[in-house]
Amino acid sequence: MATHTEGEIDALADQLAELLPIPRDLAPERIREMLGSRRYGRSLSVLAETSSTNDDVRRAAEQGAAAGHAVVADVQRAGRGQRGRTWSSTPGADLCVSIADRPAVDPEVLPVLTLAVGLGVADAVETLLADGRRCRIKWPNDVWIDGRKCAGVLVETSGSGNRLGPVVIGIGLNVNRREWPAELRARATSIAESLGAEGRIDRARALAQLLTSVEAWVDRFVAQGPAGVVAALNQRLALAGEQVTVGDLRGRLVAVAESGAALLETDQGLRQVVSGSLERAC
Ligand code: BTN
Repeated sequence: MATHTEGEIDALADQLAELLPIPRDLAPERIREMLGSRRYGRSLSVLAETSSTNDDVRRAAEQGAAAGHAVVADVQRAGRGQRGRTWSSTPGADLCVSIADRPAVDPEVLPVLTLAVGLGVADAVETLLADGRRCRIKWPNDVWIDGRKCAGVLVETSGSGNRLGPVVIGIGLNVNRREWPAELRARATSIAESLGAEGRIDRARALAQLLTSVEAWVDRFVAQGPAGVVAALNQRLALAGEQVTVGDLRGRLVAVAESGAALLETDQGLRQVVSGSLERAC
């Protein structure tokens, strides 16, 4: 009997998934009608199912897809989150989207790209909420509505130095989900759930808004550098002034520095944290 590697089985599953019908509320022509972006989503692939849209977009970019090419999927079999976590979403309810870009910035300032994308996601969510509520961003990549996570950002790069490959911007946005596993119930929300009523958010509109707002912040970052992004982020920084932990480090979250690092005032003085998961200290 022939044996197949996990990669081969995944590739086959992706090919079969291409035959599945696209969810009607994500029809590409509806999304395009509402797009206000110049590049993001102008080339767009909508899939019923895939393993990870980040992988799809990276492959497409390596094969010459235009900057701004986006892939959105209704279901991901192997959605990735930060720090090796998995990302799960509800079929028919949420958005899993990835965008390929080649931002003309110094590789040293790339950590700020995640923050710029987070600001774009926060702007899009505020537009969709349309009730004046402001989203907060939990450094470095979570977007919060009223203290609960509604979106996460995963920026992936390949290569290094001057040989940097395409940048993949992955966004998971909880749009219409209302049911959560027990461990997430107190920490997660969706746009529709946080609006309270029984209604649904139009996913095509949500995606068009997301692509438009994220492109605007990435363009601003490329044109003006990190200072404006970091200043805007500090205005919306979740847990600012509170005692937090990142791994074994504990301290008061002061702000985010222009490098994109979180600044913690600890018993040993001011510390810069470049990566990790920030939690409220108990
Ligand atoms: C996080 O909060 O940990 C980041 C979550 C990022 C999830 C998105 S969904 C679309 C894209 N494809 C992936 O496999 N991950 C990102």
